[in-house]
Amino acid sequence: MLRELLARRLVIVTGKGGVGKSTIATALALLASRQKRTLLVELEAQRSIARFFGKPPAGYEAAEVAPNLSLINITGPEAIRDYLQLIVPVGLLVEKITAHPLYRYFTEAAPGIKELLTFGKIWKLEDEKHRHRPLYDLIVVDGFPTGQALNMFRSPIEVCETLKVGPIASKARHLVDLMRDAEKTAFLLATLPEEMPVAESIELYRTLTRDIRIAYAGIAVNAILPKRFRRENLGRGGEIQRAVGEAFREIGAGDSHVVHAYRAAHEEMRWRLTHEHYLKRLASELPGPFLHLPFVFKSDGGGELVERIAAVMAGEIAVPLRAAR
Ligand SMILES: Nc1ncnc2c1ncn2[C@@H]1O[C@H](COP(=O)(O)OP(=O)(O)OP(=O)(O)O)[C@@H](O)[C@H]1O
Ligand SMILES: [Mg+2]
Repeated sequence: MLRELLARRLVIVTGKGGVGKSTIATALALLASRQKRTLLVELEAQRSIARFFGKPPAGYEAAEVAPNLSLINITGPEAIRDYLQLIVPVGLLVEKITAHPLYRYFTEAAPGIKELLTFGKIWKLEDEKHRHRPLYDLIVVDGFPTGQALNMFRSPIEVCETLKVGPIASKARHLVDLMRDAEKTAFLLATLPEEMPVAESIELYRTLTRDIRIAYAGIAVNAILPKRFRRENLGRGGEIQRAVGEAFREIGAGDSHVVHAYRAAHEEMRWRLTHEHYLKRLASELPGPFLHLPFVFKSDGGGELVERIAAVMAGEIAVPLRAAR
């Protein structure tokens, strides 16, 4: 899965809000940067990924955050300005246009313009060359969550349908072609093994593959709990419970500690069973490949977490993947 994924030019990570898109996109880009010049793109980032690398927030110009790894933050207003600069060559005029109240009205009211130009900027980066070679071998996008991602992918298609001629129409057509070029572009779903994210992933998979027609690279299921406890070990009066109780007493812990430990273990087991249920559901409803990522306990939620996830991904490359179903 990962080898194929990394062979493309543009990988867009998307999924429900909060499932780990940024963590996964960053880990993937970090892994890729060991072999390739990689660009990680964040979109409208409130808290820049740059913090994972101990760097100041990224701006609209790509900046290196690690060897072979650059980061850029594309925001809608900047993508629009960038585009205006192309069609209105006089800088001062661009300033005047963007300061005009009508400009804000237009960019906020025109549906899809922001998304279209954001997408356009990503493709401009894909096209950038250094000594006749692509400046970046791989671009990983920490994509928008579901609704906004769909808007972004639909924007060039809708523009093509509305405007038949003119520079924007031809730009949009170019974008649709690139987006549907399966050798270059693919999306990677990110999800959690829980009800809502799973339902949303299945729906998103269908829309992206059937309606929008982008190549599917697979699904990363994030934050899976380990299988540490089994029901038989935790049952009342179980042998292990007694043994643990004794061990606890040996180290001076009282009965209440044993009860707390058991409650926590039960809770974790219950979640693990829920995760197994949703992993099965995903396997029955979606094609693979599946990338199973562990819940990382005790991480700083930043660079350390990203490195742990990248290490798991690296293991996936070294070990041949099992068949998806
Ligand atoms: N495998 C994991 N184990 C433990 N915690 C994780 C894991 N993956 C992500 N997290 C934590 O979950 C939270 C959400 O992760 P992240 O910011 O990557 O999600 P996101 O999908 O990008 O969210 P948003 O939609 O808000 O951009 C963060 O606090 C992150 O540290
Ligand atoms: Mg994010």
